[in-house]
Amino acid sequence: MAEQQRIVINGGRRLEGEIAVQGAKNSALPLLAACVLCGGESALHNCPRLSDCDAACRILECLGCKCKREQTTVTVNASVIKGTEVPTSLMREMRSSIVFLGPVLTRCRSCRLSFPGGCELGPRPIDFHLAALREMGADIEEKHGYLECTAPKGLHGARIALSFSSVGATENIMLAAALARGVTEIHNAAREPEIVDLADFINKCGGRVSGAGGSTVAIEGVESLSPCEHRIMPDRIAAATYLCCCGAAGGELILTDVNSGDLRPITAVLEQMGCSVYSYGKKREENNIFINLHRPLISPGTIRTNVHPGFPTDAQPPLMALTTIASGTTVFVENIFENRFKHASELTRLGAKISVEGKVAVVTGVKSLSGAELVATDLRGGAALITAGLAAEGTSKISGICHVDRGYESIEKVLRSVGADIRRI
Ligand code: EPZ
Repeated sequence: MAEQQRIVINGGRRLEGEIAVQGAKNSALPLLAACVLCGGESALHNCPRLSDCDAACRILECLGCKCKREQTTVTVNASVIKGTEVPTSLMREMRSSIVFLGPVLTRCRSCRLSFPGGCELGPRPIDFHLAALREMGADIEEKHGYLECTAPKGLHGARIALSFSSVGATENIMLAAALARGVTEIHNAAREPEIVDLADFINKCGGRVSGAGGSTVAIEGVESLSPCEHRIMPDRIAAATYLCCCGAAGGELILTDVNSGDLRPITAVLEQMGCSVYSYGKKREENNIFINLHRPLISPGTIRTNVHPGFPTDAQPPLMALTTIASGTTVFVENIFENRFKHASELTRLGAKISVEGKVAVVTGVKSLSGAELVATDLRGGAALITAGLAAEGTSKISGICHVDRGYESIEKVLRSVGADIRRI
């Protein structure tokens, strides 16, 4: 059913109103995996209603955990882990399922999962994950597309230097190290805010993680972890997407329940483009952002994606959609994924002028876009098509909406609530 769903947008309507931003998908997934470490029932609040979170809960249930969702609270009872195999179907459905390897292995001393499928962004290997776990004492055999992982004597601490600040590898190592014997140090660790959220959760459960958010994270393994309650951080990429939607359609938006600090790389670019953006909130908590656009958009120049605190690769597609109608030429350099410009060819169907050469895309701003039939092939690329559709004159029909539903909770309802003419059919 979800495969055939499409979104229809009649563009050109200004946005006006307030959006409460959903919980972060890219924090919810490692946190759901982290529940495997705790013997008992943990509760994750502000957990977004997304197909990726549903898939993660199905994996937990395959392992013998009990999951329950009430609104945006998901409780996970991991008192007993009955199985240590993640089924191929679920590994294929969601590449980031690899983050279950660390926690299952460190708690159960064995784990069997199939190689996560490549994805629309390029091969996305897991070599950093496997190399690190081997350094911690895991025996990992790759055969017939399966990973047979064992650690008969449990995992032990290690000093791990990542050649690239991989988010998933950093998370997997933190989860494996939480119950390993001794101290693990991760050098050149990912510094994304989701890493800090995960460290907070592990520490609330009785773990000992320090340095999260910096380049060196130390994890002192403990005997066991007990369950806890945790509120998932706001989704900075969903927030960035809605800011780009407002820039594209014009108007003014207030986003509530955001961490403005996490959004600085994006809000700085939007201000360069002519948007007025400011954050405010009670005391030091800058948890609201106001954006409005009352002058023509201008190009921000060159955008290079990078690991945090650089410009996030996940915000590149929606920002590209916005730059298609900004005067001037914008150069995007995609330094994180090999193949993350697939949305460019779809945007040109709306009249955008984009030329792609390897990891560089050059966008020449046009006066206006006009509606067309579009196909989403990945999550953030789909968000880019919706962003551009809001600006395009006339009707745009976007298929492949199942990709968008992986990361955005009811995106059409959210945008309709602030004045967009958008519906799902
Ligand atoms: C996480 O993916 C996010 N996903 C991605 O968001 C995000 O784009 C990415 O981090 C970068 O910020 C989740 O958190 C679930 P990486 P992850 O490991 O962990 C290469 C979205 O749209 N690499 O930092 O897979 C890899 O090929 C998604 O919400 C290796 O070579 O990202 C890629 O080029 C998309 N070997 C680069 O590193 C490895 O062992 C970044 O990967 C691991 C990664």
